[in-house]
Amino acid sequence: MSVAGETRAFGLRHLLGMEGVAREDIVTILDLADAMAQISERPIKKVPTLRGKTVITLFAEPSTRTRASFELAGKRLSAEVINLSASTSSFQKGESLLDTARNLEAMRPDILILRHSAAGAPHFLADRLGCAILNAGDGWHAHPSQALLDCATIRKHKGSLDGLEVAICGDIRHSRVARCNVIALQTLGAKVRCAGPRTMMPVGMEEQYGVTVHDRIEAAVEGADVVMMLRLQLERQRGALFPNAREYARFYGLNPARAALAKPDAIIMHPGPMNRGLEIDPAVADGERSVILEQVTYGVAVRMALLCLFAGVRPEVG
Ligand code: CP
Repeated sequence: MSVAGETRAFGLRHLLGMEGVAREDIVTILDLADAMAQISERPIKKVPTLRGKTVITLFAEPSTRTRASFELAGKRLSAEVINLSASTSSFQKGESLLDTARNLEAMRPDILILRHSAAGAPHFLADRLGCAILNAGDGWHAHPSQALLDCATIRKHKGSLDGLEVAICGDIRHSRVARCNVIALQTLGAKVRCAGPRTMMPVGMEEQYGVTVHDRIEAAVEGADVVMMLRLQLERQRGALFPNAREYARFYGLNPARAALAKPDAIIMHPGPMNRGLEIDPAVADGERSVILEQVTYGVAVRMALLCLFAGVRPEVG
């Protein structure tokens, strides 16, 4: 892989959500991610592609996968990477998000990566800052790099997303992953079915997103090429949305019998972190059709691709 130099052909200035992201831009990201994935398999996992570029991650909510993979992505590309969290930043002294971000921008980063509990926080900064903003998850709203790594994982297994039947099951209402995935999957030609308790299904999913909605998980999983389970977002739920954990697992958990309703070559996905025994049975999560840890591996590759493209560096692939 060699560095081709600066380019303006990529169509995005920030990555805030999947709405309006063109199919060609998604394909560019996924193609570059496939090339980047090879770097992580080498004995020396480092290339000079982003030498001289600066990336700051600002996580105002907990994260394991997204934060570690953005940091690793930057380091494997030789960027300078600085990581800040709410608990160790001057948020603790009452500094606002905008003041924090403006001070970080004064240090001249090329990219600022933000996770925040407020939906729209990355958009707010994108309107006010000069560097590229990548949304690493904002409230219930969006988690675009997760959707992209999910699409990359599916494409690796299925070759193409065109015409695939994808079931997204569980707590759709509180999931920033679900919304982004619906849009990205449909942009790449997949058909999406959603299932979950009505109390966790946003009103108007069919009309707004063009998905089919099922009350029973079996109806969504039957004949699916991909089954994507969602975490019960207990920290975002106000009030009881289901009787108890045992009832939820009984009616909405993906157990071996339900997983068997999908196509024989179906893959099982989960963005993590998992509530084992609640939305997914450990036998399925660790079973031979599970690609859950491959999603995490692709997370690094997709984020390497994003850092290159949003830093204005487009390596030649192939
Ligand atoms: N999938 C995901 O966003 O995981 P983290 O919260 O650990 O980053």
